[in-house]
Amino acid sequence: MRYYIDKIAQYVGQEVTIKGWLYNIRTSGKLMFPQFRDGTGFIQGVVSQKEVSEKVWEDFKKLTQESSIIVKGIVSKHPKKDEYEIQVKDLEIVQIAEPFPITPKEHGIEFLADKRHLWIRTPRQFAILRIREEVIKSCRDYMYDNGFVLFDSPIFTPNACEGTSTLFGTEYFDLGQAYLSQSGQLYSEAGAMALGKVYDFGPTFRAEKSKTRRHLTEFWMLEPEMAYYDLDDNMDLIEDFIVYIVGRVLKNRRKELDILERDIIKLEKIQKPFPRVTYAEALEILNNKNVPLIRKRPDGSEEEIRPFPWGEDFGARHEEAIVEDFDKPVLVHRWPAEAKAFYMKRDPKDYNIALGVDVLAPEGYGEIIGGSQREDNFDELMKRIKEHELPVEEFQWYLDLRRFGSVPHSGFGMGLERFVSWMCSLEHIRETIPFPRMIYRLRP
Ligand code: 4AD
Ligand code: MG
Repeated sequence: MRYYIDKIAQYVGQEVTIKGWLYNIRTSGKLMFPQFRDGTGFIQGVVSQKEVSEKVWEDFKKLTQESSIIVKGIVSKHPKKDEYEIQVKDLEIVQIAEPFPITPKEHGIEFLADKRHLWIRTPRQFAILRIREEVIKSCRDYMYDNGFVLFDSPIFTPNACEGTSTLFGTEYFDLGQAYLSQSGQLYSEAGAMALGKVYDFGPTFRAEKSKTRRHLTEFWMLEPEMAYYDLDDNMDLIEDFIVYIVGRVLKNRRKELDILERDIIKLEKIQKPFPRVTYAEALEILNNKNVPLIRKRPDGSEEEIRPFPWGEDFGARHEEAIVEDFDKPVLVHRWPAEAKAFYMKRDPKDYNIALGVDVLAPEGYGEIIGGSQREDNFDELMKRIKEHELPVEEFQWYLDLRRFGSVPHSGFGMGLERFVSWMCSLEHIRETIPFPRMIYRLRP
């Protein structure tokens, strides 16, 4: 029989065996209070000198943090709190750990990042990584339950999807240059024409030169793509999807949210409908708040431009100012075409507008989703590929989707780590992925 800490409530009054590690231990006279962890959770033990053998008592004294141990004891419930304890009967030492570099005291972030392979054992990282898993599982469940087919996209690609400035290149045998995928979208579009509603979900890569609290060079993206969906259908789906994921995290990861001291009330407010503002309306918000565009001069100094000029993309401070007065994600739609990717469809009512949508998370978490209706007209798309100086040859297969039964279609991409960062209310995105890759970090 195997017992796990997260299921311990069902064994109150019974003897169980926990196979795990010692996280911490406190002694108080003839009592010791070891904290065990087994990967599914943390639990306090009570060792009473008069209840255990001399050997067990002495063995407990030898234990160091992260020693691997097998403990036998009776499960009891805390009289007041929703917590369980183990009244320890027996101890088997598997290994006495060397002095563990990460103690329950505070450590500097670079030190912790260097020890990421050990840092993930601590309660906070445990909580974040379990919430990450819940977000992934609920994304997949949502997609499956709503008729989407998983359609994996390749990682090696011959061309850019999201601009040529953030490509990671690599030699590909005799076939020349390949790049690590920035987005599976173009392939998802082919999938949507074959299977109706599809999604991909996998790692994507961007050689982001920016060292910010929300950029990774390797991150996971979920990208649904739907045939016969316009921008409004796309926004309805985004809204429904986000409400579902947040609901699942609240329902299944309450303990982990508590470990992180996450303000639950703020997450409970994530209900339909979400505010929708056009880019033009977002500019009004910025200008009413007098938030300028910051532009770097060639000499490196900064210039503040007021009012914020039409056509520029938003930075973190603009996104924060836009969502400030809302307690839900804000959908910013209808963007200046010049600020957006080549594949976005133009608004039939205004050729300068792209039918794109960015979702800005509340509490200053910024853009968590980018999406759009796609250009479905062959001539328009060809023109756009040329304007963006993309290699037309490489896009012939993508253009085929506009040659053979082209239909209006839309999709979006959700940055998993940005979403998890928001759920967990983190300072920095690096904690949301087991082994983060950033401009200055490749190890461990
Ligand atoms: O807005 P982006 O660049 O959109 C696309 O890639 C589209 N092809 C998606 C689509 O329509 N199928 O990226 C989508 C999301 C962003 O909103 C953000 O959440 C995340 O991916 N993202 C990053 N996350 C972490 N680190 C980075 N460097 C990121 N770049 C984008
Ligand atoms: Mg974007």
